[in-house]
Amino acid sequence: MGSWETWQAELDALMGEHFPGRRAVVGAGQRVHPPLMFIGEAPGGQEEAQGTPFVGQAGQQLQGFLDAVGLKREEIWISNTVKVRPTRISPSGSVANRTPTPQEVEWFLSLLQQEILMVHPGFLVTLGNVPLHALDPEAPTIGGCHGTWRKAVIHGIPIPMIPLYHPASLIYRPVLREAYQQDMMRVKERLLHGE
Ligand code: URA
Repeated sequence: MGSWETWQAELDALMGEHFPGRRAVVGAGQRVHPPLMFIGEAPGGQEEAQGTPFVGQAGQQLQGFLDAVGLKREEIWISNTVKVRPTRISPSGSVANRTPTPQEVEWFLSLLQQEILMVHPGFLVTLGNVPLHALDPEAPTIGGCHGTWRKAVIHGIPIPMIPLYHPASLIYRPVLREAYQQDMMRVKERLLHGE
């Protein structure tokens, strides 16, 4: 397995080649064998400004998850599939977030896989379609598999994974809230009782 030093050097090289001058946002929290690793899509504006994942509004959503499952932010590893903020220019001319492109996901995939193997979490919690399909391209869309236990197989190593809706989608589709609550309870059950 690689080291964090070589991982960082690879990230620096990728940033230099494809995103020169942009700030990478790497994971935060418990990096050594945490009970779970939380994987989002990509950092947004707040995350880019503060250099840490899931702060601002997304941080409140993460806090809701942590409260539901009974863990603290510093007890889990919090990361993203893509480590740089994907941006677009909105119709009003301001800089806005967008979903990462398949090409961006592909550029960062090997780093995410190495990160998972080095962190060695008890299981993965993915948010929305982007991390789910990065780690398990055969998976149905999130609507068809949220809250069910799957495995991400990385270099032949199976790692338990539970896909959740991305909390941002609950803002636009409040009807998903109940399913999201139930899915979080499955996470809590596994933390309490194991498989
Ligand atoms: N949404 C994500 O998926 N990741 C973040 O870090 C912030 C918002």
